[in-house]
Amino acid sequence: MTQDELKDAVAAAAIDEIRPRLERDSVLGIGTGSTANRFIDRLAPLRDDFRGAVASSEASAERLRGHGIEVFELNSVGTVPFYIDGADEVNAHLHLIKGGGGALTREKIVAACAERFICIVDASKRVERLGEFPLPVEVIPMARSYVARELVRLGADPVYREGVVTDNGNQILDCYDFPIDDPLTMEARLNAIVGVVTNGLFAARGADVLLLGTEQGVERTTPA
Ligand code: A5P
Repeated sequence: MTQDELKDAVAAAAIDEIRPRLERDSVLGIGTGSTANRFIDRLAPLRDDFRGAVASSEASAERLRGHGIEVFELNSVGTVPFYIDGADEVNAHLHLIKGGGGALTREKIVAACAERFICIVDASKRVERLGEFPLPVEVIPMARSYVARELVRLGADPVYREGVVTDNGNQILDCYDFPIDDPLTMEARLNAIVGVVTNGLFAARGADVLLLGTEQGVERTTPA
């Protein structure tokens, strides 16, 4: 199977996961990226079975509206029963690296407001140790060089993602050569650097359910 077919399979599995629990007043949290896009497309025929969605990016909001799904501000919703999103890496504890698409801050905010975070990925995203994928860190623009120096002190090789401005008007540093043995501690340490808005480690609030697309079918797991 191709990677796209595996993404399709997990998007379909996520629909099966939430469909029995959808209520007319449900507002869903929806993530960002190519896998989340496939989920959004499969959600469209169900649009009359729930109230709408909160999106983790302008791109996803636009796609949802294009399908006739109402998009709400998170502040007017409070909590969401589900947050469905992809990831760049996932370990056995369902700790994640996210933010390859630059939407990490809004993703983390919506995930924080979710009763259940369902992560949908193809098998290439599963790793023993996080950090092969460069860890994104969103920074306030004027703090970029300072934060980069602090990241070097922590052992990373930060690279400015040139030309990218996040939905929040900020910039991104991608941390290369940065294997992460203790995601919970590193997430907190990175958050403590002045000028960091968010880092792409989702460990304090990882996924609750992983739907992993493999050649043998979709594996459903919960944190080890
Ligand atoms: C977006 O900022 C990311 O966190 C995505 O969830 C992640 O990059 C996965 O994207 P794909 O589904 O396109 O691989």
